[in-house]
Amino acid sequence: MNFKKDFVWGTATSSYQIEGGAQEDGKGLSIWDVFAREGGRTFEGHTGEVACDHYHRMKEDVALLGELGVKAYRFSISWPRIFPKGFGSLNEKGLKFYSDLVDELLKYGITPYVTLYHWDYPNDLEMQGGWLNPASPEWFASYAETVAKALGDRVKHFFTFNEPQIFTWLGYDKCTHAPGIKYPAERLLLMCRHIALAHGRAVQEIREWVTDSRVGYAPTCGNAYWPVDETDELINAARRLQNSFGIEDWIHSSAFWNELFLKGTFHEQSKELFGPLLPVITEEEQKLISQPLDFCGMNLYQGTSVSFDSQGKLLLGKLPVGHGKTGMGWPITPKAMYWAVRNFYETYRLPVIITENGMSALDVVSLDGGVHDPGRIDYLHRYLKELERAIIDGVDVTGYFLWSFMDNFEWEKGYDDRFGIVFVDYKNQTRIPKDSFYWYRDLIKEKIQ
Ligand code: NOJ
Repeated sequence: MNFKKDFVWGTATSSYQIEGGAQEDGKGLSIWDVFAREGGRTFEGHTGEVACDHYHRMKEDVALLGELGVKAYRFSISWPRIFPKGFGSLNEKGLKFYSDLVDELLKYGITPYVTLYHWDYPNDLEMQGGWLNPASPEWFASYAETVAKALGDRVKHFFTFNEPQIFTWLGYDKCTHAPGIKYPAERLLLMCRHIALAHGRAVQEIREWVTDSRVGYAPTCGNAYWPVDETDELINAARRLQNSFGIEDWIHSSAFWNELFLKGTFHEQSKELFGPLLPVITEEEQKLISQPLDFCGMNLYQGTSVSFDSQGKLLLGKLPVGHGKTGMGWPITPKAMYWAVRNFYETYRLPVIITENGMSALDVVSLDGGVHDPGRIDYLHRYLKELERAIIDGVDVTGYFLWSFMDNFEWEKGYDDRFGIVFVDYKNQTRIPKDSFYWYRDLIKEKIQ
């Protein structure tokens, strides 16, 4: 494949999904600790209590990243691990874990990319209203400041939020994620305002303490619309859909959030949908939220196809019978990769980093001891070909982070879904690199065309 020499090949994980050590060294409770322990919330009551035990196996895991040959590794910090109550007294031991992780990565020449918030919110703050509390942007700013000061001598790449679309939607509307409390639209909107302000304040803190930092956020592109036939009509229809939303999907649409984070305002359509319910964002706040970012992340797994039926009516998500699906049942739609980055870039003109892409599969350890996952290799290859096509067509994409480095806690689905290129045997925490691990290693070594 024709990716440039300086293209950043990486892989990604997140704290609650891999670390375990949920009660160790002074860590505070996160909303996910509480939610998963409640029982009945996750597949067979799985929790992240032990997860991949990465908290104790960090060095072994980084050695494996070294073997993979990635140039960069995206991980997240557990906020309650370093601030057990979310705010105030600092847990030095928790902070040291991340500082050691950064040192270990640098030993292997791997550049750390840090996500500040990948959903494990401090439970104590949730008890005080969480993102609904007007103080919540400052809580986040203070956390960001601490991380920037502690790691900024070695970490230069930061993402503020991972998928605000998803943790707000699933956590406070659909209630399948922590904390699982249903809020009406006016509360959700207020929460969005605070999250956007928190993002802006975190960017400010990072830039202040790490003057050579590069900052972005990592939205999902869950509903990436892609034209089945690349005719002008369908291309335009897909773009229109991508940049709009309705009352049923506003909270998880990338259009709503990109406008909020990148322009600092509520999207025109939310004005139509919510009128006086929309909270006010002052001009000053708008400036704070929309400080220019260095890049925008994009988590991309699947998209919605756009085609015409025989009567010329627009069909959404209609794929031929027997169309390929991942282990989780998500349709395999490589063209969504091309159109998501292209539509985003043409709208916002910001360099893109694919912060997540990969698939769950029903992986097993074969009799020969290996984990053979040709479906995943094929998926990655197809999506990367489409990413390459976007780059050839002028989209500025600077990196790609495969999700995920290892199998892990897939939120409400527990350990039932396997996204890793390293198999984790949860009985004894053995790691087995899958065939896709070696394929990706060779691709990074530029052996795969
Ligand atoms: C996006 C999320 O950021 C990540 O935590 C999750 O595991 C993947 N999607 C797969 O569902």
